[in-house]
Amino acid sequence: MLNLQIPHATTVSALRARIRSWRDDRLSIGFVPTMGALHDGHISLVRLAKAHCDRVVASVFVNPRQFAEGEDLDAYPRTMLEDSEKLTLARCDLIFLPDVAEMYPEGYSANISMQGAAVGLESVARPHFFDGVATVVAKLFNQVRPDMAFFGEKDYQQLLVIRQMVRDLNFGIDIIGGETMRERDGLAMSSRNVYLSADDRVRAARLNVILKEFAAALNAGMPADQAQKAAMASAAAAFDAVDYVEARCAATLEELPSGPIDRDARVLAAVRLGSTRLIDNMAAKRPS
Ligand code: PAF
Repeated sequence: MLNLQIPHATTVSALRARIRSWRDDRLSIGFVPTMGALHDGHISLVRLAKAHCDRVVASVFVNPRQFAEGEDLDAYPRTMLEDSEKLTLARCDLIFLPDVAEMYPEGYSANISMQGAAVGLESVARPHFFDGVATVVAKLFNQVRPDMAFFGEKDYQQLLVIRQMVRDLNFGIDIIGGETMRERDGLAMSSRNVYLSADDRVRAARLNVILKEFAAALNAGMPADQAQKAAMASAAAAFDAVDYVEARCAATLEELPSGPIDRDARVLAAVRLGSTRLIDNMAAKRPS
């Protein structure tokens, strides 16, 4: 039995009972879905939600459907007591903590399959990932029925996939992206950074530098294919393996023509240090 300081619900019916009174009082509801192991990136989303909405719900659920066989489902950090302290300090109003049987009871079979922004990039190494994310987020949206939901730009492709799902399935929820929170050396905060050895933690900071240089080259008008080749070479020299380093259209994640960028773009990368996979991204602006 968890002894949490903050109001929490572990079942959909208890969650709905809590939220019903807020709705009756016409209070707006913000929602921050998480898998726990919270860091300042998550907490900044809770604060952003507090600034926009009357009440904020955060969920903590490590969703098995977005992990493939052999990925880190069992090792994924679970730090519920620390998470609840952080959420209390951020003045979150309610935590939803379902277990796997509550989310996927015996006989569960529905799956949301996403194309569009979900094609390529993360889906190449993790083909199961966005269907798993879309399915759990759709369920959470139906359970919480928020007015607004908040997702980090660190997972930029995920943010666009959720926006597309909300549009396609008429959820009527505003999706707000929160800025990526970074460590002092620029490494994007991630629950998986705890997997890095001390040496790899130092090397990991190169990713931010490489993406900054990539974005700066595009901003300065360098043809996208040349800038990408240079960034790819830097990443290959810095990391054990590179899944991708690419510039894409910021609005759709479609591929860009090879010349200087003619629209707002996003540079995105996934690299590996030992068994840890790091992802990051940043904006590149069409030169004016
Ligand atoms: O970004 C995450 O932590 C997860 O993918 C999410 C959105 C909570 C769905 O499980």
